[in-house]
Amino acid sequence: MKQLALTPPMGFNTWNTFSCDINEEIIKSLADAMVNEGYLEAGYDTLTLDDGWMSPVRDENGKLFGNPEKFPGGMKAIGDYLHERGLKFGIYSDAGTHTCAGFPASYGNERLDAKTFAEWGVDFLKYDYCFAPQGGGKDVVLYRKMGQALRETGRDIVYSVCWGVSTSPTWAKTAGGHMWRLTGDIADSWESISKVGFGAVGLEPYAGPGNWNDPDMLVIGMFGKGYVGKIGGGANINEYRSHFALWCMLAAPLFMGHDLRNTSDEVKKILLNKEAIAVNQDILGVQGYAVNGWKHALAKPLADGGVAVALFNESAEYNQILPISLEELGFESDDTVYVRDLWNHQDLGTFKSAVSVRVEPHDCAFLKLTRK
Ligand code: GLA
Repeated sequence: MKQLALTPPMGFNTWNTFSCDINEEIIKSLADAMVNEGYLEAGYDTLTLDDGWMSPVRDENGKLFGNPEKFPGGMKAIGDYLHERGLKFGIYSDAGTHTCAGFPASYGNERLDAKTFAEWGVDFLKYDYCFAPQGGGKDVVLYRKMGQALRETGRDIVYSVCWGVSTSPTWAKTAGGHMWRLTGDIADSWESISKVGFGAVGLEPYAGPGNWNDPDMLVIGMFGKGYVGKIGGGANINEYRSHFALWCMLAAPLFMGHDLRNTSDEVKKILLNKEAIAVNQDILGVQGYAVNGWKHALAKPLADGGVAVALFNESAEYNQILPISLEELGFESDDTVYVRDLWNHQDLGTFKSAVSVRVEPHDCAFLKLTRK
């Protein structure tokens, strides 16, 4: 097995929009959109079927199988459809007796399920922790069991630990996890986005190539629609821009969650911004840190000698002029630094000592600073 997830995993997950209402036709149309509308080319390569794909009971051999009404062709056929188009196949299970939505899960069947997933061509497993034993370190033991079972399949399967407790970053890597959830579920609102996103600031010691803090999937472009959209009620375009910059700066996995078959141009401009994605996917794999302890000013050192900077305006009402001192980023105060605006793909010129930018309410400046 080779080392996986050297940069943060990217893709699409069905949960935020569809909840358990997924089927063969929906998955195929999402896969087609990923390929035809440029998402795959931009790096979003994994299509993950979240909860609700499975039959309510295991088969006569104790194996999981796809709900025949939703997936009449079976799960391997879904994997084949994705692989034929250059996509990776992500699937969901849970360490307890049932998934969070009450379907059969992997407790006591870890080896069999890992083998079944490998046979179907699964490339990514999101593994949840509902209906599972609490306390006494049982969570760590159960995540280790699935991690071990996945490695023993010999197939390259990225392991996404979906247990949003504060301890996860400290043990999930030893359980074989490539990424780990930090909190409960994100909702489609600025309150939720900023809570889970800025809550990840400070966890940079745990992140690096092969291992990523996961503040949950993206709600960009949901605008209050779909399952999680209705829970949060929706955010605005400035807030979605900040959401994306924040996840890029955190080196967080980027899993879209809106109905990507129907995406407006202004949303595509965010999600398909290659310069922003390059910050997220930078091979150094450093998670952005709070400059001078202020979590609304993040900096992320990049492999080419540049530094990405994101400055977030916390105000919902006023524009703000946000400054950043070059010396706090590792430059000398008399250096001449070139500044590029990653949103608009524009060079803003050279600066000395400090950079200040005007930022709209709940929006952010997303910049790259280089000395040459
Ligand atoms: C939990 C997870 C979600 C989703 C659902 C599925 O709530 O945190 O991301 O996978 O379960 O039931």
